[in-house]
Amino acid sequence: MIIASPRDFRRAAQQRLPRFLFDYVDGGALDEVTLKANETDLSKILLRQRVLHAMDKVDLSTTLLGQDLALPITLGPVGLSGMLARRGEVQAAQAAAKARIPYTLSTVSVCPLAEIAAASSQPIWFQLYVLKDRGFMADALARAAALGVTTLVFTVDMPTPGSRYRDPHSGMSGPWAGTRRLVQAMLHPRWALDVGLLGRPHDLGNISVYRGQSTGLADYIGWLGANFDPSIGWQDLDWIRQTWQGQILIKGILDPDDARDAVSFGADGIVVSNHGGRQLDGTLSTAAAMPGIVEAVGKSIPVLADSGIRSGVDVLRFLALGADAVMLGRAYAYALAAGGEAGVSRLLALFEAEMRTNMTLMGVKKLADLGPHCLVQPSQGK
Ligand code: LAC
Repeated sequence: MIIASPRDFRRAAQQRLPRFLFDYVDGGALDEVTLKANETDLSKILLRQRVLHAMDKVDLSTTLLGQDLALPITLGPVGLSGMLARRGEVQAAQAAAKARIPYTLSTVSVCPLAEIAAASSQPIWFQLYVLKDRGFMADALARAAALGVTTLVFTVDMPTPGSRYRDPHSGMSGPWAGTRRLVQAMLHPRWALDVGLLGRPHDLGNISVYRGQSTGLADYIGWLGANFDPSIGWQDLDWIRQTWQGQILIKGILDPDDARDAVSFGADGIVVSNHGGRQLDGTLSTAAAMPGIVEAVGKSIPVLADSGIRSGVDVLRFLALGADAVMLGRAYAYALAAGGEAGVSRLLALFEAEMRTNMTLMGVKKLADLGPHCLVQPSQGK
């Protein structure tokens, strides 16, 4: 299959993966209205074409949370990405390190933190949820500190997992799920060998390390439902602030009032996110939420954005809306499934090439020059 654009990886992933995994990554909550809106609203953000700006050089580097990045891109946490390629989280972390951008390990990863820390040549970011078992959280924070994690990405938009109607259809959950997954694996022999057989153990590595026993994946969706804690509140973040000495990014902000609260709390940054349309269906797209949040936060802390980013031009759209950097989820998950570390490296190279070309066509030489003045105003073009 020919990969010419970042979007081509989606179809390649669909071919490679058993259906339950592809649909888990690809799907969203309920009717997937917000999932679609993330992409559609973003595609309607129009960039200004500016000419004759002597564009011999374009600089895509930036500094985020004290870290020098080659691109204004971070790889976000994707649950179960170790099921997309053999020890998938290790491969994604290595691609990120080579590209000089941060990688965020999910709480619900297959590979445990220690495995990633040992394989990565740069400090990693770690994403944490509030689980009912606060002992796990204390243990995970201590482990993260000991393994040199600089930044905690604290996800706040998942007090309870959103309902994903694709899961029972795909065999991720529902009747005969185990048998259906086995049949799907047999129909995808390359995946079955590479990941199914050679990518073991298949469990939630971070949870197994804490419990001292394997946490199987047979009922992953049931596990999420049983262990996520709807009682999460700002008091939990106060506890984390006291326990964690490193930086804290609060991920899952979609409302200006919550953004202000995050600033008052003392967050080192926020991630504007609706969890890729996987949580509250029928809410705002992140592109639509950005202006209000950027206004509320001002320049006080870095603002990252995710959800719906599928191309380099999408990154430019978010930066023009006021984001300091973006976080990728599905875009790199598809590439990881399609081609492992090399797939993710290729994806990042394609993003970079798109950004370079389009900044040249926009007459913008460096990221700091991107902003609302780069957007076509509604009155133009009428
Ligand atoms: C999800 C969780 C695990 O979106 O973050 O599936």
